[in-house]
Amino acid sequence: MSYLVWPEHIGIIMDGNGRWAKLRGLPRSAGHKEGARVMEDIIVYAEKETDIKFLTFYAFSTENWSRPADEIKSLMQLFELHLDRLIATTDKHDIVIKFIGDRSRLSDTLVEKMKKCEEKSGKNEKLTVYIAINYGGRQEIAFAAREVAKKVQHGELLIDEIDEKTLEREIFTKESPHADLIIRPSGEQRLSNFLLWQSAYSEFYFDGVLWPDFTKDDLIRAVTEFNKRNRRFGGI
Ligand code: IPE
Ligand code: IPE
Ligand code: MG
Repeated sequence: MSYLVWPEHIGIIMDGNGRWAKLRGLPRSAGHKEGARVMEDIIVYAEKETDIKFLTFYAFSTENWSRPADEIKSLMQLFELHLDRLIATTDKHDIVIKFIGDRSRLSDTLVEKMKKCEEKSGKNEKLTVYIAINYGGRQEIAFAAREVAKKVQHGELLIDEIDEKTLEREIFTKESPHADLIIRPSGEQRLSNFLLWQSAYSEFYFDGVLWPDFTKDDLIRAVTEFNKRNRRFGGI
């Protein structure tokens, strides 16, 4: 394999769990469970074997609340279980975990586990993993606008001073560069409200594989393709 340049920040839309389960005659929750395992494998691989600095995983969108109550319930239970595992993983691997999205609609138990995960992994540094739960790109931009408005209201900022950088400082992933590469498995070719602000100049990689079948080889394939892209950022 030729030398790969790893993107600094990769966003992954973990899609296709339901179809994976359906193909096997299993309940959708079985697909989500397998999907969570794959996410963990990719995180560990990225930390051990790659130069990726930031990985953002889309786990639950603001629109996913429109799913049947029993699916939402099983997803929330899975997040709790998965976080216990992730907390243990961050003891063994140099991974920082951060959550993005609105926590106000999540259970107290889940929010506590999220905090614990962030606190325990906060001392690590090699790879930062953002997990998007109850996240939407529009929600994030609305949140940033509200924070900017508060600064104006408190006299810390003039309206005419508001520019892209002002909003940038309020974006959930503000400690990271924008997403260089966004990967979406499952065959769908859309963002579904993921990283709207951060994807202005992302490269996109769509793959027919269903997320529970996604492996490090699929990640390498996406990055190999990324290496062939010519990013111009509006220049020549
Ligand atoms: C992604 O898989 C997981 C979440 C959105 C929570 P899906 O559940 O969307 O799986 P498909 O798209 O129905 O196959
Ligand atoms: C996007 O997948 C959200 C997550 C992967 C968490 P969806 O399955 O919700 O997206 P749509 O509905 O196909 O656009
Ligand atoms: Mg889907």
